[in-house]
Amino acid sequence: MTKKKAKPSNAVRKNLEKAAARVMKNAHAPYSNFHVGSAILLTNGKIFTGCNVENASYGMTNCAERTAIFSAVATLGPKIEIQAVAVTNDHGVACSPCGACRQVIYEFGPNATIYFQGSDGPRQAHITELLPEGFRLK
Ligand code: THU
Repeated sequence: MTKKKAKPSNAVRKNLEKAAARVMKNAHAPYSNFHVGSAILLTNGKIFTGCNVENASYGMTNCAERTAIFSAVATLGPKIEIQAVAVTNDHGVACSPCGACRQVIYEFGPNATIYFQGSDGPRQAHITELLPEGFRLK
């Protein structure tokens, strides 16, 4: 199931980060005022993007990463594999995917590389570094 794909080149990473920054502008974040964009690269080469979509009932909020992943599934179906995920925010602060998003990334990308702003600057990490012992039903 896990196709081992080489890590994306710097050019591909930059392209993903640019796409994440572009879609960030569509965020609906009137409650936190924290706009987030995400772009995912699939192993078939396609890129999908998403932003955070908040709600007056705060718990209904959807993070940028999950928006991108759900958009990919809605377009292509569930047989997608995520190769890489980029996350960006409009505060220039550390922002790694939340726990819920890590689990969703793992579902569709058990070998994914995540690009995000860490506390000491830009970082990249394998999804299993961010989510050790991720849950799987099979
Ligand atoms: N958020 C994301 O969209 N992705 C992350 O990786 C971290 C947090 C959103 C959720 C909420 O709309 C806002 O950022 C503040 O938590």
